[in-house]
Amino acid sequence: MKIGSIDLGKQPVLLAPMEDVTDISFRLMCKRFGADMVYTEFVSSDALIRHVNKTQQKLTVSEDERPVAIQIYGREVDAMAEAARICEAARPDILDINFGCPVKRVAGKGAGAGMLRNIPLMLEITREVVKAVNIPVTVKTRLGWDMNDLVIVDLAEQLQDCGIAALSIHGRTRSQMYTGEADWTLIGAVKNNPRMHIPIIGNGDVTSAERCRECFDRYGVDGVMIGRGSIGRPWIFEEIKHFLTTGEALPGREFQWYLDILKQQVVQSVERLDERRGILHIRRHLAATPLFKGIPDFKSTRIAMLRAETVEQLFDIMDNIPHLLKLKG
Ligand SMILES: Cc1cc2nc3c(=O)[nH]c(=O)nc-3n(C[C@H](O)[C@H](O)[C@H](O)COP(=O)(O)O)c2cc1C
Repeated sequence: MKIGSIDLGKQPVLLAPMEDVTDISFRLMCKRFGADMVYTEFVSSDALIRHVNKTQQKLTVSEDERPVAIQIYGREVDAMAEAARICEAARPDILDINFGCPVKRVAGKGAGAGMLRNIPLMLEITREVVKAVNIPVTVKTRLGWDMNDLVIVDLAEQLQDCGIAALSIHGRTRSQMYTGEADWTLIGAVKNNPRMHIPIIGNGDVTSAERCRECFDRYGVDGVMIGRGSIGRPWIFEEIKHFLTTGEALPGREFQWYLDILKQQVVQSVERLDERRGILHIRRHLAATPLFKGIPDFKSTRIAMLRAETVEQLFDIMDNIPHLLKLKG
């Protein structure tokens, strides 16, 4: 699959943009496990043009994570075009526009998935952003606003006509938020539309190598994007890549190996932020990881782990988990 002149290889697997999750250290971690492309958290165009410091920091990309896309959102044409130019100066490989975020503070104001209610504006923004920069511009969106408005097949053609280089589709409507199951049939319909020639990246509920293979095979998408399945499990990319290339499941590793990855994430998070904020930040990953599933009587350990306030406390608890396993196992 190629985005502009950027070759992502055959059946690429991408790390989805996720606010408060896909910071630079998590992106590098996923890259290390084989993610073929990574995305920053979404960045507000309004904050960018006002030079808000915290927002500008989100534009930092590393040579080691390429190809990387910076994602922006907003609802004003000029602000989006100006933000696109600011992002381009940070030297990402790709600029992605978010027309999919369903949360009230974004979509309620007409940005993100809110743009699904104003397609002419969505298209105008896309055209102007494409014009504003020299790097490839891509779009990430949803199937439509709600079940009565499944516009994606026509919309994909219109976005393509605006000059985008690839389209990512999350198989839900805005109204669904994150509920129900992602519907990949419409993603497949976009891909199978003979008028489409840009790569189509499918997204939604892919949490295993087998499901990823199925999405490629059944829906014919050019790429698959993984979001929540990577939280607390950055090694999912290695599992998927191995399965896609060999047809066989990657043999499991020692428990300690996975635990060490999570500990590395804690260290990186604390280094990037500070001890208090770093621990708060990484709790989401520790809460989501499948690593501790099935450990009997784990509840009290889990609560203690998610309450720990220092790295020392946290590592004491985490280091005791293999011991718990031996006792119970
Ligand atoms: C915590 C979180 C933050 C997210 N932030 C963004 C974002 O900044 N930009 C975006 O386009 N999508 C965002 N998403 C949506 C994901 O990119 C993805 O489309 C969605 O989670 C469905 O994929 P999944 O089932 O693999 O998680 C976010 C999702 C989650 C769970």
